[in-house]
Amino acid sequence: MSDRGKLIVTGGAGYIGSHTVVELVKAGYDVVCIDNMERADPEIWRRVQNIVGRHIPLESVDLRNLQDTQRAINKHSDAKGVVHFAAYKYVPESVRKPLPYFYNNVVGLLNLLKAIEDTGIKYFLFSSSCSVYGNASKLPVTEDLPFEEAESPYGRTKQIAEYILKDLAHYSGKLKVVSLRYFNPVGSHPTYQIGEALVGEPENLFPRITLSVAGRLPEITIFGSDYPTRDGTPIRDYIHIMDLAEAHVLAMNWLIDNEPEYEVFNLGTGDGLTVLEIIKAFEEYNGVKVPYSFGPRREGDVIAVYASGEKAKEVLGWEPKRTVKEMVVDAWKWHLVMENTPYFRSKLDSKFPRKYSSAVALGEER
Ligand SMILES: NC(=O)c1ccc[n+]([C@@H]2O[C@H](COP(=O)([O-])OP(=O)(O)OC[C@H]3O[C@@H](n4cnc5c(N)ncnc54)[C@H](O)[C@@H]3O)[C@@H](O)[C@H]2O)c1
Repeated sequence: MSDRGKLIVTGGAGYIGSHTVVELVKAGYDVVCIDNMERADPEIWRRVQNIVGRHIPLESVDLRNLQDTQRAINKHSDAKGVVHFAAYKYVPESVRKPLPYFYNNVVGLLNLLKAIEDTGIKYFLFSSSCSVYGNASKLPVTEDLPFEEAESPYGRTKQIAEYILKDLAHYSGKLKVVSLRYFNPVGSHPTYQIGEALVGEPENLFPRITLSVAGRLPEITIFGSDYPTRDGTPIRDYIHIMDLAEAHVLAMNWLIDNEPEYEVFNLGTGDGLTVLEIIKAFEEYNGVKVPYSFGPRREGDVIAVYASGEKAKEVLGWEPKRTVKEMVVDAWKWHLVMENTPYFRSKLDSKFPRKYSSAVALGEER
């Protein structure tokens, strides 16, 4: 038993979860993970345990199943808190398939809350998203800004989840909740043992950039060149995954020490970059060419969103430390590690055969 107590981390084998589990264990928490592995790679989970040098129990449970969730929680009812990552995360996929998003992200949350209801578990850290702001009326966005209409079912699931948690914390009088609104996490662990696994059809910008540079996608399509921004492409706030992971440790410590009813923190850098600017940074710092073309605007996308990080700095003492250069370099290095690891390479080859002329020299070919 580690000295800070036990935490249940749902979705701990996914991208943000895996990096955060490493930091939580390093900080002295005893972690168990609940993940149905639907969107996780078992090799990443093996490597998480390798980095921390110990076995971390994994309950392969789907949160959409209440009985299974209750069984898993009851096994670990001595935990003091939950970090809830498990959800679907792609805006465009949610536009195509709204019901699975509501079902997974909302029913999954409700089952988890029901399962912890009669236990002593009272600290709840929730993975929210900047998508709750919709097309924000003021930039940078501060946490007190009222929600605009969500621009996608995904964003709506996060708004609904926040309302549920806020009301439950208020009326139950037991649950203590922090919602963390992430902006756009990118990059990988400094050991390059873990990073974003390409499970399913990656719909975020960075995996599409790395796959295109590697000649595994023909090019990336930039959806919209006529937004009212500096160069017509949407503005986002990219944040290094390790800065995000470290914020979870500070947030959990703060939640336990201060026991607020319900608090929200933005986790972003405060620097909005356009899609074209991030592509240029990727090219410059990695010495590669990113093949891209422009397409029409995509349903669900907001024009611009970037964070005010003042509250997280003042209250949690958290400030992002990594630069844009570290974000793009780490993302590309992680991709090269996958290219040079037989396990990941064969997965890449079967899902994204390397057949486009844009391909740069990789791994053993260099
Ligand atoms: N990555 C981003 O850009 C981003 C931005 C803002 C917010 N978020 C939120 O952060 C959280 C984690 O995101 P991520 O990038 O690590 O996603 P991810 O898809 O890499 O990880 C999610 C994990 O949850 C698991 N999972 C999903 N549904 C489950 C279920 N019903 N039962 C059990 N396990 C389940 C998956 O197998 C996966 O391991 C999500 O809630 C996401 O909405 C992500």
